[in-house]
Amino acid sequence: MDEKVSTISTPIAGYRPQLTRLVCLLLLVYFALSSLWAGHPSEPRRPSFSYLADHCTSSISPIGTEEFLTRQKELAITLHNLNGSAAYVTEPSANGLFFANVSTVEWRLSERPLLLIITPKLEDGEIHPKLSVLAPRFEATRAKLLPIPFAQPNEIEWIEWPEEASPYELAVAALGEQKDGGIVFVDSATRYFVVDGLQKALPQAKVVAAPVEIKQLRERKSKGELEIMKCAHETTLLSIREVHKRLYIGMRESEAREMIATALADAGLSNGGCLTLFGDNAALPHGSGSDRTLGQSDFALFDCTGNLLGYQSDVTRTVALPDSKIPSGHLFIWERVQAAQLRAHDAARAGTATAIVDEVARSYLQRYGYEKYFTHRLGHGIGIEGHESPYLVGGSKDIIKTGHTFSNEPGVYIEGKVGVRLEDCFYIDEKGNAVLLTEGVGGTAKSALKP
Ligand SMILES: *[C@@H]1O[C@H](CO)[C@@H](O)[C@H](O)[C@H]1NC(C)=O
Ligand SMILES: *[C@@H]1O[C@H](CO)[C@@H](O)[C@H](O)[C@H]1NC(C)=O
Repeated sequence: MDEKVSTISTPIAGYRPQLTRLVCLLLLVYFALSSLWAGHPSEPRRPSFSYLADHCTSSISPIGTEEFLTRQKELAITLHNLNGSAAYVTEPSANGLFFANVSTVEWRLSERPLLLIITPKLEDGEIHPKLSVLAPRFEATRAKLLPIPFAQPNEIEWIEWPEEASPYELAVAALGEQKDGGIVFVDSATRYFVVDGLQKALPQAKVVAAPVEIKQLRERKSKGELEIMKCAHETTLLSIREVHKRLYIGMRESEAREMIATALADAGLSNGGCLTLFGDNAALPHGSGSDRTLGQSDFALFDCTGNLLGYQSDVTRTVALPDSKIPSGHLFIWERVQAAQLRAHDAARAGTATAIVDEVARSYLQRYGYEKYFTHRLGHGIGIEGHESPYLVGGSKDIIKTGHTFSNEPGVYIEGKVGVRLEDCFYIDEKGNAVLLTEGVGGTAKSALKP
């Protein structure tokens, strides 16, 4: 107060020395701060989780040529069995990746279609796949560099379409009997203008979405795929556990989110990240968009995904800290969600309807009046895509088969109060039993303190 008064009353003559003193003080503060900063280069608080990469990611093999050839052959046989002469068409996509190693990463979609066309070919009494690739002529050289595994690479038929021609009419030339009254099955992710173009170029044929017989070639995972998926899920869970140890009361969601993304990346997963939700933010299953701090009575929810060699992981944990003071009602919810998850896991086996597994979790939560807070399906298939068919959901007619993979993720979300979700993915082994993809690292959460 005094100072202010004296400043105002200072005559012009006394003004200069004061300004000089202020400038000196500011410079001093600046240099002090910048020398502190220089002592901590770039990211001072970034922990390293690179030890997680030793767990399995470095010893896992990508899907090899043999497996691609098996997929192509099985597709050809399925097409033949479905309709003597059916064809299968896909753009670069999850199925493009599954059958021909071409996803939208290898070939970005544009208005100019690139189509992978597989038809069955009978040779010496055996069904073989015939592969045709339709590509824009001016990009033909780049298309031929695509890493497509095929039994006789020089037998891949390349169809180059010049800008002024209809790609669909040229694609039809690659087809056989489908031209006159056959069936063309398109991958269901194919864009409508492509389906429409094919149908108009094939007025005699039926152009329809690929049926379940084709879809299940990808739904039912091979040993090689399951090995990759186990590693992806184990690493994801280990990352959550490591970050759990470093959480503290007062931490921001954004800080925890960044830390776990670092852990997933260090562990060897690509495009890794987690929905990171504290307290009542977790009551909105896909997040709230606010950045709150972790309070003593809050759970922290991490719903994490990452990619390993083209396969997705998906693990959710709702955790507390040793010094948390979680309301007993919220711990009660946590335990009910855990019990619902275990019951659903026990109910899942080959031959059971997917809808029943959802029902087991739902009816258990209903006993406690929580069914209205369990607002989503129990689970989804997982593999090349994070969410893929079949689904553990009411109303589904799907039956569980060996090789299927599912997430099992019951949740209770009470808006403004609390959100709890636990998610573990499992596969159906050769005996028809459900086995956790994270079995190798102890599987499901034992308590909110032991994720
Ligand atoms: C599949 O494509 C990737 C590049 O996207 C390549 O590294 C890999 O070798 C290919 N796989 C086979 C079996 O050719
Ligand atoms: C193949 O599909 C066509 C068109 O729907 C149909 O007319 C034909 O009977 C089918 N053939 C077989 C063997 O199912």
